[in-house]
Amino acid sequence: TQQLNQSPQSMSIQEGKDFIMNCSTSTTLATLFWYRQDPGKGLILLMKLVKGKEVKNQGKLTAQFDEKKQHSSLLITETQPRDSARYFCAS
Ligand SMILES: *[C@@H]1O[C@H](CO)[C@@H](O)[C@H](O)[C@H]1NC(C)=O
Repeated sequence: TQQLNQSPQSMSIQEGKDFIMNCSTSTTLATLFWYRQDPGKGLILLMKLVKGKEVKNQGKLTAQFDEKKQHSSLLITETQPRDSARYFCAS
């Protein structure tokens, strides 16, 4: 299994600001997923990244997977209270 490191662990952001979170690993990943989890709910798949250098945009979410496939970021633009949740990366 892979060890994925996410940062930051937690964060409070001013409404309307953009927010970026990161996920990294020491080895190359074939596929990277970003999930969201709301309190007491299951995981919701937000993004699936397969190709290095890939940038995926979905509404206010933008995810990218670096060329070496060892780092990914998830950007939330203009955060709103409904964006409050736990976000996970997985491989
Ligand atoms: C996320 O990654 C970006 C680009 O590498 C970096 O500028 C930023 O400081 C990182 N943020 C955290 C919380 O690690």
